[in-house]
Amino acid sequence: MTFRPRFVRYLCRMAETLALAPDASRKQRYEALSNRWKSLLGNEPNRMANLANAAAVLKEAFDWHWVGFYLVDKQRDELVLGPFQGPLACTRLHHGKGVCAAAWDEATAQVVPNVHEFEGHVACSSLTESELVIPIVSADEVVAVLDIDSVNRDDVSAADVAGLTPLVDFLGQNWKAWE
Ligand code: SME
Repeated sequence: MTFRPRFVRYLCRMAETLALAPDASRKQRYEALSNRWKSLLGNEPNRMANLANAAAVLKEAFDWHWVGFYLVDKQRDELVLGPFQGPLACTRLHHGKGVCAAAWDEATAQVVPNVHEFEGHVACSSLTESELVIPIVSADEVVAVLDIDSVNRDDVSAADVAGLTPLVDFLGQNWKAWE
């Protein structure tokens, strides 16, 4: 099958490229991204497509070990794996155990500089040393969490929560409108 250029352009429509300076600090990267989530993700109405690209942007911008989403599965009352970048991950997480469940249960960001000190931490990858999980809230309920794992200890802080808040807010505000 041969594609005409016009058709290929339609299929490969890109929202935007990242174009972050290679030597930019983490703070500068967050600043550069903060107002760009709408344009980076484009006007795509499909939720999974937007979560997939959000994970890709974060992986490219910060090179985390693992970055992705767990979605609240209301029927089974569990978190189920969503779009992510990184190694194979646990597919389901349960109330009361682990960092993601804590963010879900408490509806608050969890900053874990040393995962070995977090009781009940679910080790999907033995390489993870620190972890950050931020709940995504839509209409006053947690609908998903953003989970970030680093191979370095003490690699997450409140500054990362602040830097990621524009993305998490954007996802929460659009969650219900997206299919
Ligand atoms: N460590 C998480 C499980 C998910 S993986 O890190 C991808 C937790 O304790 O909930």
